[in-house]
Parts: sequence; structure tokens; C-alpha cells
Amino acid sequence: MNLLFYLRKILHLTGTKYGCGSGGCGSCTVMVSRYDPKTKKIHHYPVTACLVPICSLYGVAVTTVEGIGSIKTRIHPVQDPQKFPDIPENFMSAVDNFPIGTPQGLQMFQCVNPHQPPQDPVGHPMMHKSAIKHATGEAVYVDDMPPVAQELFLAVVTSTRAHAKIIAIDVSEALALPGVVDVITAEDVPGDNNHNGEVLYAQNEVICVGQIVCTVAADTYAHAKDAAKKVRIAYEDIEPRIITIEQALEHNSFLADEKKIEQGNVEQAFKHVDQIIEGKWSWPEK
Ligand code: FES
Repeated sequence: MNLLFYLRKILHLTGTKYGCGSGGCGSCTVMVSRYDPKTKKIHHYPVTACLVPICSLYGVAVTTVEGIGSIKTRIHPVQDPQKFPDIPENFMSAVDNFPIGTPQGLQMFQCVNPHQPPQDPVGHPMMHKSAIKHATGEAVYVDDMPPVAQELFLAVVTSTRAHAKIIAIDVSEALALPGVVDVITAEDVPGDNNHNGEVLYAQNEVICVGQIVCTVAADTYAHAKDAAKKVRIAYEDIEPRIITIEQALEHNSFLADEKKIEQGNVEQAFKHVDQIIEGKWSWPEK
């Protein structure tokens, strides 16, 4: 069991968040304090709780965001953006004794007339309404809510093909696994599976890698994920497989109608302008 699971699911300290689950995002960072008998000092350092096995924490103290301050008790200066200018340099990154460099940041906002009444918000920097709740870990997200009786977890099964016909979906192996309650496909959607072009579950064909084909419902997320790997989908590839924007243009493949912004008589205007500048603009990842 890792520290993140223990904090969130056993102790219900949900201020420590589950993000990537693989040490990349830092949303599960907590402070570990360990006594060093050689130096006779306590060392504090940050760890990503999703990567720390609980058995490696013998004899250490762990401080989560709840242990720093809260709205109910008293918020720590590092959690209060309004006190930001007063925070000493060594507190800028987190609480005391963190042996890490200070992250740099800059927030820019316009200056308002000093005679403008404080109750007039125009131009004044305003704190996000939930800012303190976010900083103290007290904002409750869906995954922070306590489980309800007979709650089920869903894991998605997604297409591995860019463009293909779905020949068959074999869910028998998945359904036989412990904790699995059902596998839900397009056939099970009671209403419209295609809402204004937004397809919930792929039906008959898939049009991109990652498109949701079905979901597995189970008593735990781990069971649902394991079972999702056992759903077998038989595909038959279809041409064209569109990967680039150029290929989409060539095959006239658009997700929605072409959108144009025009004002006045554009064709006439082009006949009389001095210069016409043409160009292409694209994001590589789009
Ligand atoms: S959940 Fe992202 S680093 Fe732990």
C-alpha cells in the first residue's frame, strides 16, 4: 500500500490529491520528517506520496496540507495569498526547513487609482473564491467524497485503432474477474448515444485511437482497471486513417461545420485592397 492511498482512503485526509499516480505532477506532495541519530537533527523533506510504500515510513512523521493550517483552525501564512508580501524568503516554497530551492513566480495586474474606493472591484486584483480552500486542501472534489454504499467504479476501454470497424466485443473474461459487475457498451445507453455528434460509446466503428468503446463497472477502481484490460475487441481497419490536418482537408473530414467570420462584402473588398497577406497557422499538437 502506498502513502497516498493510506492518507486518502484509510485516514480520509483528502487534502493530498491523486493526480498522475506516478510521481510526475506533485499533487500528492507531503512533508516527511526523519530523525538523524548521527547529526541529532530532524530532517524535513518533501515526498510524492503516490510513490512511497507505507512500510518505508517506520519512525518518521508525515505532515499533510491539513497539518499546516485550515480555515477552521488558523491558516498558515503560506496558505493565505493576501499575506503573501509578508512571507519571509525562506517560507516562500513551503513550510520551514524544506531543503529545496525557492520557486519563482510573477503575478501581474493593472494599477488602480489610489482614490478608487476599495469596494469598487474594477481593476483590483481579486482572490479566487476558493483560493484558501485550495491552499489548505479543504476544497472537496468528487474523488475526495466518502464512498457511498454499493458504490461502483468505472474504467474505460478505448480504441487502439485510428479508424476501424468493430467486429466483436468479447467481455466474458472481464466479467469473470472478481468484483466486476458489468461491462457497458453503446447497446446499454438508454437514451441517445450520439448527442449532437458527441458519441458516448463507439458503435460499429471507431474514428480515433483512444475513443471510448465500453466501460467496466466494478467494486473497486483496481478491479475495474484489471478487467478493462481483459475486454477483447476485434477490429477491421478502414481507410482512410486520418492522422494529420492535411489528410483531414484532403478527405474533407471535419468534426463540425466550417466556421467563418465575415463582415461586409468580402469579395469586393479583396478586389480593391492594396495588400493581401496569406499564411498558415497551426499548433503541432492539434
Ligand atoms: S499523484 Fe502525481 S506525483 Fe503523486
